[in-house]
Amino acid sequence: MIISSPGDYREAARRKLPPFLFHYIDGGAYAEQTLKRNVEDYQAIALRQRVLQDMTSLSLETKLFDETLRLPVVLAPVGLTGMYARRGEVQAARAAASRGVPFTLSTVSVCPIEEVASAIDRPMWFQLYVLRDRGFMKNALERARAAGVKTLVFTVDMPTPGARYRDAHSGMSGPNAALRRMVQAMTHPMWAYDVGLRGVPHDLGNVSRYLGKPTGLADYIGWLGANFDPSISWKDLQWIRDFWDGPMIIKGILDPQDARDAVSFGADGIVVSNHGGRQLDGVLSSARALPAIADAVKGDIRILADSGVRNGLDVVRAIALGADAVMLGRAFVYALAANGQAGVENLLDLFEKEMRVAMTLTGAKSIAGITRDLIA
Ligand code: FNR
Repeated sequence: MIISSPGDYREAARRKLPPFLFHYIDGGAYAEQTLKRNVEDYQAIALRQRVLQDMTSLSLETKLFDETLRLPVVLAPVGLTGMYARRGEVQAARAAASRGVPFTLSTVSVCPIEEVASAIDRPMWFQLYVLRDRGFMKNALERARAAGVKTLVFTVDMPTPGARYRDAHSGMSGPNAALRRMVQAMTHPMWAYDVGLRGVPHDLGNVSRYLGKPTGLADYIGWLGANFDPSISWKDLQWIRDFWDGPMIIKGILDPQDARDAVSFGADGIVVSNHGGRQLDGVLSSARALPAIADAVKGDIRILADSGVRNGLDVVRAIALGADAVMLGRAFVYALAANGQAGVENLLDLFEKEMRVAMTLTGAKSIAGITRDLIA
């Protein structure tokens, strides 16, 4: 099919992926209201058109921690990315690096930290979940540091997985064992994917540990629920802060008070996020949560935002609402599933083009020039 806009990749991914994988990516929690509003609330933001501003010099570059980003975009951590395309984490990381933006490896990746980190020539970011097994977490952090990771994304909005009914219908969660069937299929020589299940020490431990326990295979989401730690609180984060000397970003902030607590705790950044509408349905969309959070902490901490960003225009809108940069979840995953590394590269090019048009017609010459003033 012809791809002319970032949105086209969703349909391309739907045609390519087995249905239970497509719905795992595409779906959200409960009635998917927050998922829907994430997208609609960005779309509803009207920008002020400004003309005759001499826009010959236009820069999309931004600094985040010690890194220069060609555009204010980071690929979000997405679990099981290596199942949407062959060695998907490596392909996505290479695409991000070639377009000058960071890639974040999820805790529940298929490819191991070392493989992805060594495939690219810029430092990747690493995302950690709070698991009951702190020894596992420490080991993951040690491996990430040894592999050259500087920036840690610590996801705090999953003390328990949200109720994702599409996964129950598709067999991704529950007793239907779709994942076990998928793994069996992938180990078959005819299967197109290569997730390194034969002897390659894929993943940092949790997916492989999970795969190593055949009984656990019956229910991926159930496994998440059993291994994630609901007791987590700010004081538990201190040992990670003590251990990790690079930038630490808290992902899953939706409330100004939590944002202030992240500043007091000494975090370097936050991601304003409702996990793409996959956790608590009915919470504020990212577009609606952002302004109050920016009012509370802008300048004290770097603000990233995700959930509902689907095109370059949405990036400009999120920055106008107070973000310093955005993370892309589904947008890049659809492109990866549809066309691998080339798909993600093209997606990032499309985002850049759309941002350029939006900035030119709002008179914003730089990322710093995208302020709330741009909103009509
Ligand atoms: C996610 N997300 C996520 N977040 C995280 O911190 N660790 C993870 O392993 C995952 N896994 C994951 C899988 C899938 C299939 C999706 C769609 C999302 C959340 C992700 O990082 C990001 O917050 C959202 O995807 C942002 O919303 P959009 O851009 O998808 O609307």
